[in-house]
This record gives sequence, structure tokens and C-alpha cells, in this order.
Amino acid sequence: MSGKNDGRESWGSNFGFLMAAIGSAVGLGNLWGFPYKMGANGGFAFFILYLVLVVFAGYILVMTELALGRATGKSIIPAYRSATDGKGTFIGIFSTVAPFLILGFYCYLGGYALKYAIANLGDIFHASWGVGGADGADFFTALFTNRGESRVYTILFILVTVLIVSRGVSSGIEKFNKIAMPGLFILLVIVVIRSCTLPGAGAGIAFMFKPDWSAFAGKGIISVLASAGGQMFFSISIGMGIMVTYGSYMKKDDDIAKSGLIIPLADTVIAILAGLAIMPAVFAFGMEPSAGPGLLFMTLQNVFNSMGAAGPVFGTLFYILVCIAALTSSMSLLEAIIASFVDKALDKGQGNKRKMYCWIAGVLTMITGASVAMDGLGTYLPPMFGRFCWLDGYDLLAEGILMPIAALLTVLYFGWIKKDFLQAEIKTSSTFKTEKFYTFCLKFVAPIFCFFVLLGQIDSFFGLGWF
Ligand code: PFF
Repeated sequence: MSGKNDGRESWGSNFGFLMAAIGSAVGLGNLWGFPYKMGANGGFAFFILYLVLVVFAGYILVMTELALGRATGKSIIPAYRSATDGKGTFIGIFSTVAPFLILGFYCYLGGYALKYAIANLGDIFHASWGVGGADGADFFTALFTNRGESRVYTILFILVTVLIVSRGVSSGIEKFNKIAMPGLFILLVIVVIRSCTLPGAGAGIAFMFKPDWSAFAGKGIISVLASAGGQMFFSISIGMGIMVTYGSYMKKDDDIAKSGLIIPLADTVIAILAGLAIMPAVFAFGMEPSAGPGLLFMTLQNVFNSMGAAGPVFGTLFYILVCIAALTSSMSLLEAIIASFVDKALDKGQGNKRKMYCWIAGVLTMITGASVAMDGLGTYLPPMFGRFCWLDGYDLLAEGILMPIAALLTVLYFGWIKKDFLQAEIKTSSTFKTEKFYTFCLKFVAPIFCFFVLLGQIDSFFGLGWF
């Protein structure tokens, strides 16, 4: 490694690294996926299952990816190439294509969050560019059917992402996350307090936490497992080379075993807080909970509309929070896409080409993001693969196929073929008391889990109705 990678960047501090990794994990998945899935799939019972998955699989996968990055000191494609003697380079390629497919639609959604933050701010000043009390569904429909405006916000969000990431690992990504993540946490706590103290909030808390063990009965357990597994995969950003890339910027004395636990646990705590911010308010105003864009951009806007004078203030705070969550995730997606190219140029002695690759990837993402905007959530373009709106098409290809395959092959390879490679790396900076547990889960539990997630995703991709 020495010599070749001179000039390669690294994190300024362990805190900065943790904020960046948690920032990648905490995103739209926490806000609109977790609370609803938890409520709809057994409440507290789902949560217990999710925690078990976090410990037996999330922890293992995050540690695996971080250790692979740090052991090789390289980003995704070269990391896989060097650790598998070239045989597994394609896994690195999968893990680079997947974030690229996701980044476009992620910025499209981030752009909507930006639009909502601005519109709610406008309402504080009774400006003409505010929501003006319009029904959430009408406001959202007007936005996504306005393809010009949708493209503008998507491109704006991509530009912000590019501008931050192009500044570098420590002075761009880390610096932003170190301020934004504590800020996000404070905003979230403010919204949680408001939401949980509304009259009638108890019904929302009951929706999320009431244990319903019958969700696990018979075939139900498989569908709950697939849903919790898929959610966890996306939520903690695994199978996308992100943790490999972020791990490659870690210092040799940073504790991987500890970080591997902190990242998924922090992600889960924030997902629960997001639920406590959203569901009590939804129920307090007598609305129906849902998942996905409808929850964030229709239902919640109606909640803010119903809050009277305080509505625009909480609306603005909430959508700023959504913007931050989406931005810290989109930054990690862009970093995962470009890092291998930046490394290659460094290795060839061509210097730091970060800015150039950020802009190339940014422009390409503008094309995929614009295609999602042009589709208007399935309103305008012919369905992708004959079945899906373009947003879902990109998502299913990345999250449904590439991510679980990459993760499955990774755990199989390091569990069964290149044994002890990652453990040796983890031990260089940690007492690694959980080594036996890690090795057992890496060999047996994680592959079964990844296989399940893959089956669950194939099932929904082809609409097979297996689960
Ligand atoms: N983890 C992010 C979320 O929960 O929204 C999304 C995400 C970011 C997925 C980065 C995958 C990824 F590599």
C-alpha cells in the first residue's frame, strides 16, 4: 500500500467518522419506512425482531464492510479486487452501480423536502410561495405533475451534494456531518416533544408500540422477517460499499468493533424517534398512517396545516430535518460512487481528481434524477420493466437485486473462503471480545439473512406473492 496511496484522504477524528457513518444510515428510510412498517407489522413485536436482526446481522455486516475498507485501505472496487485477488471485483462493481441507481431518485425526493421546507417557511410569512393551507395531497400532486419544477429541485439537491462532497472527505463530508447530525438530533427531539404532547397523541404511540405477536403466526413470520430485513438493509446503508469506503478512511487505531455496534444502534434509536415525531401527530389529527412519499409529503403536510399558527414553524423545522437526513445520505452515496475512481487516479500518480469525478457523477445523476422527475411518479413515462414507476424501478434494481447479492457474496467469501482476514484487521485496534460471535454469525446467520432479504426482494420485484 505504501507510497501508492500517498495523498489519500482520511477522517479527521473518530467522532467525525461516526457522525458521517450515522449520517449515511439515517435518511428517508428511517423517516418514512421504519415507523409505518413497525406499526403495520406487529408494533413492539416487530421492534424486538428488528433488534435481533440488528445484533445478529446489521452489526456483523457493518463491521465486515468497515474492516474490509480499512484492511485494504482502498475504496470499493479496488478493495474487493485486492481482497479477492481479482475474483470478486464484480462485487465492487455491483456496489458502485447500486448507489448510482439510488442517488438520482434519492435527490429527487430530497429536492421535494427542500421545496416543502421553503414552502412552510413561506407560510410563516404568509408569502405567496407558501403552502397556503392547500390540502397536502393537492399540493404534492401539483408538485410532481409539474415536471419542470421537480427537475429544478432535483438538480438543486444534486448540486448541493456535489458541492459538499467535492470539498473532500474531512473538509467536506465530515465537517458537514459534525454540525448537521447533532442539529438533526435536536430538531428531532423538538418535533417529538410537540408531537407526543398533542391531545390524542396516545393513539399514535399505541399504533407503533402495541405488541401484536400474532403478526408472527404461521407464514406471517416470513413476511415480517423479509420486511424487517429489507428495511434494515437499506436503513443502515449496507451492501452498497458505503461502509467499505468510509472504513477505508478510518485510522488504524479506530475501534471497528465498537463503531460496528454504534452505527446500527444509533440508526435504530433515530428511527424510533422519527416514529415518535410522526405517528402521534398523524393520529392526533385523525389521519391515516401510511408509508413512503405519501406519509411525508401529503399526510404530514396536512398535520402541519391543522396545527394553526404553530404549524408552519414545525413544518419548516421538520422539513429542514428531512433535508439534512437526505443530504447526509446522498453525500455518502456520491462518495461511494466516486471513491474508486479517485483512488485509481491517485495510484496512477495523477493527483487528486475528486472534484472532476464529483462533477461527472453529478451530471450523470442529474440524468437519472431528471428521468424520475419526468416520470412524475408513474404519471408520464411508460413503466420501467413494464411494471414500475421509474423511482421504484431504480430502487428495486439497486435495493432489490444488487445490494443483497453483493452483501451475500461478501459474507460468504469472508466467512468461508478468506477466513480470519477481517477478524485480524478488527483485532489490530480492538480487544474484540465478540470475535467468536462475529465469526459464527458471519458464517451462518448473516448469509441466511442476506438470502432471505434477496428472496423477499425478488418476491416483490416479480410480484410472486411468495411471502
Ligand atoms: N440509509 C439511508 C436511509 O435510510 O434513507 C439511505 C441509504 C443511504 C441507503 C446510503 C443506502 C446507502 F448506501
